[in-house]
Amino acid sequence: MMIPREVVEEVRRRTDIVELIGSYVTLKRAGSNFGGLCPFHSEKTPSFTVFPDSESFYCFGCGAGGDAITFVMKNENLDYPSAVEVLAARAGIQIVKEQEKSTGGLTRKRVHDMNKDAAKFFHQCLLAPIGAEGLKYLTEKRGLSMALIKHFGLGFAPGSFNMLTDYMHKKGYTDAELAQGFLCGISQKNGRAYDYFRNRVMFPIIDTAGNVIAFGGRVMDDSKPKYLNSSDTPAFQKRKNLFALNFAKNHSTDRLILCEGYMDVISLHAYGFENAVATLGTAITPEQARLMTKYTKQVIICYDADEAGQRAAVKAMEVLGQVGMDVRVLHVNDAKDPDEYLRKFGDARFRRLIEGSRTEFSYKSEKIFAKYSMDIPEERIKASEELCALIAATPSKVEREIYASMVADKLKISIDSLKNDIERTRSKKLRALKQKESKDAGLSAKGYGDRVNPDTARNVQAVAAEEAIIGLLMLYPEHRKMITSGTIALTEEDFFSALGKRAFARIMKMEQEEGGFSYSLLGEDFTPDEMGRLQSMLQKRRALAENGTAVLRASVTTLLEQKRKSDARESGDVVQSIQQLLDAKKKKQ
Ligand code: GTP
Ligand code: MN
Repeated sequence: MMIPREVVEEVRRRTDIVELIGSYVTLKRAGSNFGGLCPFHSEKTPSFTVFPDSESFYCFGCGAGGDAITFVMKNENLDYPSAVEVLAARAGIQIVKEQEKSTGGLTRKRVHDMNKDAAKFFHQCLLAPIGAEGLKYLTEKRGLSMALIKHFGLGFAPGSFNMLTDYMHKKGYTDAELAQGFLCGISQKNGRAYDYFRNRVMFPIIDTAGNVIAFGGRVMDDSKPKYLNSSDTPAFQKRKNLFALNFAKNHSTDRLILCEGYMDVISLHAYGFENAVATLGTAITPEQARLMTKYTKQVIICYDADEAGQRAAVKAMEVLGQVGMDVRVLHVNDAKDPDEYLRKFGDARFRRLIEGSRTEFSYKSEKIFAKYSMDIPEERIKASEELCALIAATPSKVEREIYASMVADKLKISIDSLKNDIERTRSKKLRALKQKESKDAGLSAKGYGDRVNPDTARNVQAVAAEEAIIGLLMLYPEHRKMITSGTIALTEEDFFSALGKRAFARIMKMEQEEGGFSYSLLGEDFTPDEMGRLQSMLQKRRALAENGTAVLRASVTTLLEQKRKSDARESGDVVQSIQQLLDAKKKKQ
């Protein structure tokens, strides 16, 4: 354990969860609890609840839940120790860490320090004779000024196999640390470390707190792969960060511009569009979309002009639309990407593109009109069908009417008959959706599609019993005592799902060896999603009150029974199955 237990508990004690969450979410009192709109999924009616008594939160809509630490982890994309640090700083508590584990556990702080040192090294190389080729590439080929290069901290990784590794050794980093931080690889042949990025211009990726969290490295010619990017590390997850958001967040009041490439963003910033960001070599994720909602209400998607870029733009619209973002799309004509567009046509014309950037609707409807000729009746019918489907998907009736009037003329159809068609298409869609939903609900009741605990699908009853047991054990010390004293015989092996086994083992270990159970300490070993699941197990059993013990005993019986059944079924053990058949027969007689 890196942060001592007393510190975690002190942090929790000094943090008012209502005040903490209230600083991000508008909360309204509801009885003894507080409710608001869930910050972790998009919803229109509040299902997010904060429980001051148990110092926890839970969303009945999406299942997110936990304590103050989990909240900060999820909301700020932090790992457990960092979230504790944030809360400690907020409460004015000084953290003295225990001896850090020497194997495996690289802390976030260590990765940040390491990356910062590496970024300095790459930057110095770029400005030194050894980086001449890199500097020439960036300034002459890509037209970047020295000021811009410094602003973004760009660098150069020399062609050597050991310059960075040697430099980092002198700074006290071990091969294992460098390898885990994706700065070097370990040779299969001789076990020695070698520089991972070689002969590339380097783009440091910096988070909103100013930490260097990763690198992208680009070749200076047409060789492949064009970019090498750091893989995910404890300090860096691609799907949760955006390139240049550290700068853009200070210029994002009206909107953010979302691009595909690092170079696009750098050019945009150079031309005065400092609200530009890019994903990190992957399609945009819901996490990134939500991250952007913290800083702005409008995003202009500005992807490459090619087919792939445009297809990605349509996907991005959906992802951003789902978090309630006002989405616009901008298409660069006569240039392959925004970077080239700016250098060909300048900032004034790009600004006009921004002002003329289309809403999702006009972007999509123009695509449909471009496909069909309005002079050919059959094509006009096809176009009107596609437009009806497009408009029917808009939730607001007023908006649907506006859209209908926007396209009716062009389609040469009366607004009224178009509106009729749209509403008919809409009811048909809603009916289909309802059917699908009830089918999905059936499936999820059977445990299919449970991401947090995938074992649920294999035996819903066993997992339900497990969840009751774990919920009760977390809630009531007397139930934990029943296990430790052997009044109820239950071991890790008796649990059915991997999550159940882990949770039981962790809870009981804390109880027996670490001075008692504390929900907050689970955050170190369970993901925020799992913390949410554990929180839901706990919340659901709160209402049991004095019937808890009976439920605990019954659940243990059910679990053991179901587990035996599943084990028999899954092991395919013929003898066991025959035995069960015989048992069943005996019962009947
Ligand atoms: P330039 O060609 O220098 O203009 O690069 P760009 O930044 O405009 O990149 P591009 O539009 O070609 O690609 C968009 C993003 O995808 C890049 O910024 C990288 O993050 C990522 N990417 C591109 N090529 C590769 C690759 O070969 N490997 C990996 N891992 N990522 C890539
Ligand atoms: Mn490009």
